[in-house]
Amino acid sequence: MKYRLRDANEDDLVKIYEIERLSFKNPYGYDLLWWLLKAPNCFFIVAETDNDIVGYLIGRYERERIFSKLKRGHIVSIAVHPKWRRKGIGTALMLEAIRRFQEANCTRVILEVRVSNKPAIQLYEKLGFRRIKRIKGYYIDGEDAWVYELPLKEREKPND
Ligand code: ACO
Ligand code: ZN
Repeated sequence: MKYRLRDANEDDLVKIYEIERLSFKNPYGYDLLWWLLKAPNCFFIVAETDNDIVGYLIGRYERERIFSKLKRGHIVSIAVHPKWRRKGIGTALMLEAIRRFQEANCTRVILEVRVSNKPAIQLYEKLGFRRIKRIKGYYIDGEDAWVYELPLKEREKPND
């Protein structure tokens, strides 16, 4: 089973949106996905086989606080097509995102996940993410979120 990772473009959005609808109870709309694809502080990666998009990940660069020099990475969303799960694609997408955040001198990577989402939680814990807090009623249906964090090694000191 062969696939490669690359940056997404507009032509991929229909397939990304399909994976989104197959993967989430409350999927992002097509317009939001389009907007995230265009957002300058985000990257949007797809996993592609010979002729199909089989997974995607959206990452965002953020400041820890307004005016802070400290940057963090945020995994906004990740999903793999149901037929292509459990083959390491989710792991590969996460490792590529972590690499990019590290490259950009982010000090950590964070994400939110439904407390009931065992597959995703397993994936994050396997990659070394740790639970830092619970947000009550984070999701539209009232479910709580875990916030997970992966501290990154510093590459260079910010010179202030
Ligand atoms: N049950 C238990 N553990 C699992 C499962 C599962 N169903 N799926 C993955 N894992 C764990 C395992 O430890 C697995 O390693 P193993 O296969 O060697 O045991 C490890 O995660 C890595 O699995 P991958 O094959 O790399 O992950 P996959 O390509 O299947 O993608 C993903 C995982 C993205 C969570 C997929 O299940 C999915 O798309 N789910 C629906 C969408 C979703 O929930 N996305 C995350 C929401 S939170 C957010 O986006 C920030
Ligand atoms: Zn988030």
